Amino acid sequence: MDDLAALKTKYEAEIAAATDEAALEAVRVAALGKKGEVSLMMRGLGAMSPEERQLAGPALNALKASLSDAIAVRRSALADAALEARLAEETVDVTLPPRPARTGTIHPITQVTEEVIAILADLGFGVAEGPQVETDWYNFDALNIPADHPSRTEMDTFYMHRDPADPRPPHVLRTHTSPVQIRYMEAHGAPCRIIAPGRVYRADYDQTHTPMFHQVEGLAIDRDISMANLKWTLEEFCRAFFEVETIELRFRASHFPFTEPSAEVDIRCSWTDGQLRIGEGDDWMEILGSGMVHPKVLRAAGVDPDEWQGFAFGIGIDRLAMLKYGMPDLRAFFDSDLRWLQHYGFRPGDVPRTFA
Ligand code: DAH
Repeated sequence: MDDLAALKTKYEAEIAAATDEAALEAVRVAALGKKGEVSLMMRGLGAMSPEERQLAGPALNALKASLSDAIAVRRSALADAALEARLAEETVDVTLPPRPARTGTIHPITQVTEEVIAILADLGFGVAEGPQVETDWYNFDALNIPADHPSRTEMDTFYMHRDPADPRPPHVLRTHTSPVQIRYMEAHGAPCRIIAPGRVYRADYDQTHTPMFHQVEGLAIDRDISMANLKWTLEEFCRAFFEVETIELRFRASHFPFTEPSAEVDIRCSWTDGQLRIGEGDDWMEILGSGMVHPKVLRAAGVDPDEWQGFAFGIGIDRLAMLKYGMPDLRAFFDSDLRWLQHYGFRPGDVPRTFA
């Protein structure tokens, strides 16, 4: 009997110590399997005297039943624990925000260019393009820019390689998008209504100037187009672009060789605590140059100035982007710093549209 008690203690300890199904099964086989310790003892009952058997039989049966129960309880506890562990491991917290896949962003210049195109296309302007490496004639002469104009110096303009044997003036990296006016009128004549967005180049570098930047040129030619049409167009544009109902523009007399009269256009704004607000306040900020296309420019492009007239304007796209989205340093636009791009970039699905 002492043997049985010791056996019981030993197997109960082993059952308790089994930490998984396989270990528990090994304990069961060792005790109750066909050749298990308890089974072998039960088989020995046959060789006992009836008196001995009467004592040992119930005791062995009780041991077998007790161990069987203990194993069943332990098995179920292990199964519960395994399930708990699995549930914990596979838990999905549906209240957590999804982790966004890291994607590229749309550069603010691209976004603003698309916005400008969308708004002006709505006003009836088509999109035209011209080359970035331009001839001296398209970039300067045809636009009535005199040979001695300061903007032609190498201080301002990037010239392509000069071939000493070639008498023609060297090509330039276009300094503005205005040459597209000439190219378009040459090819399509009047009337026309186009915008020309694109890269332009000037030898300049500080917080608000980079050697490459972006402009959008506007040109509307017909028989009776006036400054009033220009003013309305620019007001509509600014209202839509800055998303402010109360826009106020100020036309300041200016001079551009390619327009007569010429006006620089300022927009009413306020600066408080470094925060720019468009459409209110007592400050004015220059946003573009414009005017009525000079008769000499029309003639240079093959359009008869006695029959046709119209307006033109040139806007800095980078400057518009800085104003609308509060980006203080233009140089950062072209640094390709991923942190800047993630912060100021737009999601690819944010397509600009002009309707609410
Ligand atoms: N081309 C000028 C510049 O780069 C901008 C400009 C001014 C364009 C007046 C125009 C205009 O079409 O009429 O500064």
